[in-house]
Amino acid sequence: MDVLEAIRTRRSIRKYTDRDVPDEFIEKILTAGIWAPSGKNNQPWRFAVVKDKKLKSEIAKQTIHTNILENAPVIIAVFLDHNVTYDVVKDANTMGACIQNMLLAAHALGLGAVWIAEIRNKMDEVRKLCGAPEEYELIAVVPIGFSREKEKKGRRTGLEKVVFLRK
Ligand SMILES: Cc1cc2nc3c(=O)[nH]c(=O)nc-3n(C[C@H](O)[C@H](O)[C@H](O)COP(=O)(O)O)c2cc1C
Repeated sequence: MDVLEAIRTRRSIRKYTDRDVPDEFIEKILTAGIWAPSGKNNQPWRFAVVKDKKLKSEIAKQTIHTNILENAPVIIAVFLDHNVTYDVVKDANTMGACIQNMLLAAHALGLGAVWIAEIRNKMDEVRKLCGAPEEYELIAVVPIGFSREKEKKGRRTGLEKVVFLRK
């Protein structure tokens, strides 16, 4: 899939079929994540890939989006490693680039995924469940699976409203 088409047609997918996500797809999604740009090339992303039903369910209970996480065949918890951070805003931007790459890769592979950040309300609980060190800050969880949703158009405010200078 062309990158512009992937950007334009990707939607947040919150319902999945039972079909397993092949491991090679998960590797491709993680690989897309680590090829994001990062400030000073510090690459602060860390990942916990969870397929185990029991652990997935424990993590799912930490968010209001329990159903989304429980029904996804795989979830990837994305952490920021504070051992290598250097600037709050720039490191946050880096993590956004990483997660967007992952969402686009999932879409290009024919999968559906969504960025779940609400779970940050329970970031310490999720970190402990994943066995991550204290320096790892939970940024988001990305549930992934084959979509069970109808095609979604999406909604954006047009360029005429958001571009305020063309000189
Ligand atoms: C920083 C961030 C946090 C988000 N957190 C959540 C979330 O906690 N739960 C959720 O259902 N969607 C979440 N989303 C997905 C947005 O709701 C979604 O991207 C937006 O509504 C636009 O829809 P689209 O992705 O289908 O274009 C988040 C997206 C971003 C970028």
